[in-house]
Amino acid sequence: MYEYKISIRRYRVMKILAIETSCDETAAAVVEDGRKILSNIVATQIEEHKLYGGVVPEIASRRHCESIVAVVNEALEQAQMKLDDVDAIAVTYAPGLIGALLVGVNYAKGLALASGKPLIPVHHIKGHIAANYIAHEDLKPPYLCLAASGGHSHIMKVSDYTTFETIGRTLDDAAGEAFDKAARAMGFSYPGGVHIDKAAKNGDPKKYKLPRPKTQNPYDFSFSGLKTNVINLVHNANQKGEEVDIDSLAASFQYTVADILSSRFVQAAEDFGYKTAALAGGVAANSALRGMLTERCEKKGIKLYIPPINLCGDNAAMIGSQAYFEYQSGNVADGSLNAMATLAL
Ligand code: KG4
Ligand code: ZN
Repeated sequence: MYEYKISIRRYRVMKILAIETSCDETAAAVVEDGRKILSNIVATQIEEHKLYGGVVPEIASRRHCESIVAVVNEALEQAQMKLDDVDAIAVTYAPGLIGALLVGVNYAKGLALASGKPLIPVHHIKGHIAANYIAHEDLKPPYLCLAASGGHSHIMKVSDYTTFETIGRTLDDAAGEAFDKAARAMGFSYPGGVHIDKAAKNGDPKKYKLPRPKTQNPYDFSFSGLKTNVINLVHNANQKGEEVDIDSLAASFQYTVADILSSRFVQAAEDFGYKTAALAGGVAANSALRGMLTERCEKKGIKLYIPPINLCGDNAAMIGSQAYFEYQSGNVADGSLNAMATLAL
């Protein structure tokens, strides 16, 4: 991992230009002191990837190349700043699609080199968690975090802004991945999580009984069996010419995933004595998960922080937020920074 302990300058106010290109959004933002958004630009490629039912890595890289200059310039413009006015450049360097990450990493390295500003490498999931610092001024570690996205489903102890310990994780599919694959079987376009969420509002969450995985570690998850069950259910019904109540299947699937995530997370919070908790990642936008977790945490006297919907999905503001804390702890990269497709928290 690229972590260089260098002499860290103390800024009266620190403005960070952040870049995020780990998947299918080209994003740039300017964030002040890790908590205040001065600009936040997201150029999504979803319409194009939708045609193929998922993200096509080569297309993602090309679109990042085409958009990055305009997106970064727009972020600076919206913040009414020039490159010279920012104090540091931050970038997501892992995990994600390697070709996509490389576009952001190389562009950020170029900006840092040209401007003489420090370069701050940020782990994508740590960024997702930091979205909470922007939305909630009073949130401070320690707390327990549930990060659920297209690639991760992790329960983590966050002991300070840059120290994370994973105590539970998915053994197979991530929650978002399961949402997207189940959604595809239900006939929804990519990315399907949001469509399941919408359809579920008109369905009966108790109509279809779906399996709940057993795991040795009580804080781990496993969503692949649940996903396969939905795919088989639709497939078998189609073969028999039977109709599937898609709204109720969406509601049942969503209810089951939200129940698994929230019950194991609340159990972990209780077992480890946490009174503060946070939710993060694209799946944090799910209405059932937000509602269920809020209710269950309230019952147990746990204060729960959730980012607003617009900060749940991929964006660069969350990267700018985490970068501020990374910088404070001395995590600065040099020109040898490379992108990594996988990287533990
Ligand atoms: O964090 P994110 O934007 O990208 C990754 O880092 O993976 O997460 C994307 C995932 C997708 O699987 C998407 O379907 C899911 O988050 N998602 C949702 C909702 N909105 C986005 N899943 C369930 N309900 C939603 N409302
Ligand atoms: Zn993400």
